[in-house]
Amino acid sequence: MKIISLFSGAGGLDLGLVQAGNEIVWANDIDKDAVETYRHNVGNNIVLDDIKNVEISIIPNADVVVGGFPCQGFSQANRFRMLNDERNMLYRFFYETIKQKQPNFFIAENVKGILTLGHGEAIKQILSDFENAGYRATVNLVNMADYGVPETRQRVIILGQQQGLSSKMLLTLPPKTHSKTGTDGLHKWISIKQAISRYPDPDMPNNVPNHEYSKYKVEYRDYTAHRPTDANKPSPTILARGNGGGGVCAIPHYNGLRRLTVRESASIQTFPDDFIFYGVRGSCYRQIGNAVPVRFAKILGQELRRIEKEGLLCK
Ligand SMILES: C[S@@+](CC[C@H](N)C(=O)[O-])C[C@H]1O[C@@H](n2cnc3c(N)ncnc32)[C@H](O)[C@@H]1O
Repeated sequence: MKIISLFSGAGGLDLGLVQAGNEIVWANDIDKDAVETYRHNVGNNIVLDDIKNVEISIIPNADVVVGGFPCQGFSQANRFRMLNDERNMLYRFFYETIKQKQPNFFIAENVKGILTLGHGEAIKQILSDFENAGYRATVNLVNMADYGVPETRQRVIILGQQQGLSSKMLLTLPPKTHSKTGTDGLHKWISIKQAISRYPDPDMPNNVPNHEYSKYKVEYRDYTAHRPTDANKPSPTILARGNGGGGVCAIPHYNGLRRLTVRESASIQTFPDDFIFYGVRGSCYRQIGNAVPVRFAKILGQELRRIEKEGLLCK
């Protein structure tokens, strides 16, 4: 399917969709490092600009609009989140694009905090906006570990479908492939050790790209990014934000001696090893922490391909 990608970042979501055989016809992000990373690894169809400067009429038509609209204002980690937070309004650009372009489907990714923002009023408002734009949508809370990502990252995935397309929802969340216990015919969650033990010691000479780590001291204080990492469980969520100290906070390695390298963090987010990140180390960590895991995105992309092959698209 042809896809418009908004708030594309480094392109975790887009790479997975492309790997499944879809095509990104237009993408956008305001972050110059993320755009450079995207251009080198995903494709040239990305425009570097603030989305507020973009005229929707210049965006080509497409079958699908996707976007992980910025989540700072929605995050549960932000105690000052508010419905009228200016940063939450960026989603309105996403909405306007859908309203004007009328794609068959849309996929929106966000943090879990969106479900409780304004005691649930924000998500209600969002769904009502999409309904007015002609879309039915489902809201799905996904644990990425359930889809073979070595990380217990929870994200909200909103799947929208044009009301006239079919009386049933064609684009639904694919069945889980993994579970904590690995029973009922599912695979067991993939541990962080399984995911990253193959990388060489970053303190020894090596030629692994982006295999460098933050020197921020590992100290356990029982809050996010300051807890011991269990080698035999999936990684905690790879973060895009710091702890107020200025830099992005990388998860401690399970050896307890250092933090994860950029490459190890990317691998947990299921980026391939030949995907190179551009920018200073903090920027690379941020691009990775912002991303939709590539493996999960590919699974969604395969659903789109299946629907297309079954001839269910509205042309
Ligand atoms: C959650 S990230 C998206 C990650 C992406 N979906 C991926 O899988 O890699 C949100 C992105 O929105 C971008 N962004 C924030 N404000 C923006 C604006 N005003 N215009 C365009 N992009 C913006 C950020 O630079 C960031 O890359």
